[in-house]
Amino acid sequence: MVLIAPSVLSADFGNLAEAVGEVSPAADWLHVDVMDGHFVPNLTIGPPVVASLRRHSGLFFDCHLMMEDPGSYLGAFAEAGANGCTVHVEVGRSAELLAEARRLGLQAGLALNPETPLDTVLPYLEACDLLLVMTVHPGFGGQRFMAEVLPKLAEARKAVDERGLAVRIEVDGGIDEHTAGLVARAGADVLVAGSAIFGRERPWEAAQAIRRAAEG
Ligand code: DX5
Ligand code: ZN
Repeated sequence: MVLIAPSVLSADFGNLAEAVGEVSPAADWLHVDVMDGHFVPNLTIGPPVVASLRRHSGLFFDCHLMMEDPGSYLGAFAEAGANGCTVHVEVGRSAELLAEARRLGLQAGLALNPETPLDTVLPYLEACDLLLVMTVHPGFGGQRFMAEVLPKLAEARKAVDERGLAVRIEVDGGIDEHTAGLVARAGADVLVAGSAIFGRERPWEAAQAIRRAAEG
């Protein structure tokens, strides 16, 4: 079964609770993009916003930490009501960060950028609950899907299945009703979409269209 995770990055930040409520019936998870202005050249939201949203939503909060120093904030995200936290392999200390996430009761995710080889995450597969394969360069919503990542995605699926692991494989960036089928066939089972959901007139229907395309 494919999970759909709308990314609040493309929602109206002045009206977040309402935007989330509107898409909730068609969403499995809510993807929360945290950017620190260092790991990526953009700033978004942190634990206080997650805590505020928690009071309005029962969805699984899938927090994507695009941060140089996620370790200093994992506790705050757990406290704020995050359900999963994903750190980037590029910042290092992956074993330590994944173990700390699990110790805090979070689902532990490990992300890799489009140009980062799959080999970098393979030693940590047993330590993660989720592998996030970026299909754009992180930092901004609304970018074009990078089809050149598809072979790496398929390799990731193969590695997870060969080891008999239950690690979910998430894709993030440029996912819409046209690319959903491609990534689902390559082995993704969690699809993040921001602009293709919150950028549309009827976000709920847009999320359903992505689900249908993925399951098609
Ligand atoms: C990008 C973020 C994504 C972003 C995706 O750095 O990690 O989650 O919201 O946006 P779309 O779906 O518009 O590519
Ligand atoms: Zn993201």
